[in-house]
Amino acid sequence: MYRKNSFILLAMLLIFAVLLAACGGSATATEEAPAEAPAEEVAGKVGIVLPTRDEPRWIQDEARFEEALAAAGYEVEILFSQGDSAREKANVEDLITKGVQVLVITPHDGAAAAAAAEVAQEAGVKVISYDRLILETDAVDYYVTFDSIAVGAAQAQYLVDKASGEGNPLYLYAGAASDNNAFLFFEGAWNVLQPKIADGTFVIKNSSEAEALQDKAELTRDEMAQIIGQVTTNWDFNTAKNLAEANLTATTAEDKGDVFILAPNDGTARAIADAFAADGDVSSYVVTGQDAEVASVQYIIDGKQSMTVLKDVRTLVGDAIAAAITFLEGGTPAQTNTYNNGVIDVPAKPSEVISVDQDNVQAEIIDSGYWPADEFTGLP
Ligand code: BGC
Repeated sequence: MYRKNSFILLAMLLIFAVLLAACGGSATATEEAPAEAPAEEVAGKVGIVLPTRDEPRWIQDEARFEEALAAAGYEVEILFSQGDSAREKANVEDLITKGVQVLVITPHDGAAAAAAAEVAQEAGVKVISYDRLILETDAVDYYVTFDSIAVGAAQAQYLVDKASGEGNPLYLYAGAASDNNAFLFFEGAWNVLQPKIADGTFVIKNSSEAEALQDKAELTRDEMAQIIGQVTTNWDFNTAKNLAEANLTATTAEDKGDVFILAPNDGTARAIADAFAADGDVSSYVVTGQDAEVASVQYIIDGKQSMTVLKDVRTLVGDAIAAAITFLEGGTPAQTNTYNNGVIDVPAKPSEVISVDQDNVQAEIIDSGYWPADEFTGLP
């Protein structure tokens, strides 16, 4: 009896050992094992707060974060603030309660977000400002960004390259004054446009503030704020549409014809372009954008938007993750630049941007793998 039991026990042990070996072998052979590895190497949690789900731009960021983090085997939580600074702060507090050690945040309003960043700093959380800079606080450890001056410059250069002769009507539009990027985009554009306004190539049609400053090569922040106050879209499609329509109503047929439009991003560009297209006195228009949103790439293919600036969000997401991991490991992320936020110079490593129109849409958007061809119809 005793022997029989021992034999059964031995047999069971053997089967168990064989099973264990088989499981161990197959675990190393599956694809899951390497994906889990980084999470074990670097302990820590990352929280991400994005400004709104109402613009395709930030849905792009969410999707690219999810792709990249799944591939790397990290778990993070992404929350949206829906254009509300109070909700943004509540999101940050929520993530702190859940134990994040690094916070990646795109502020809805740069100055208002200082309070949220300070709560994070007090909790010992590293704060990475993502795409938009948090202003007026020392509670920002790093800034992950594109070169926003270059974005504005690329938009303006496109208008300059398409214009010939003198007296070309120019309509200026800007982003939200609560977003520091709106100033950088405008500054980059002004650097290129101002000499071409001064030499008569362009004539400003929709901003008395810009006209009053048109002889100044460099504008102060206050001067830019005056112009932006007059031509802001608030990053909102309806505001952009209403403003464009109001501008077209306030101007005469002589102010139209073949027009040039500085539109700050893709969402507002489509709204503004639609308004200009609907005006019988506009015979043609050149309009800028940025973000390479799917709808705007289609507009470019269809000849309804002239260009966009591709800011490859995969690069920005990669930089943010690399910076977060460096912080979790106790290191300092790479820096090539600093951006002053009113209180400190925030270290950053700005990424390059690419001007895209009908001529290079296939190469830069499709062949680069940024968007799949089947998102579009009528590709050149
Ligand atoms: C971003 C743009 C975006 C805009 C509106 C800016 O801060 O850099 O990519 O289009 O905000 O959301």
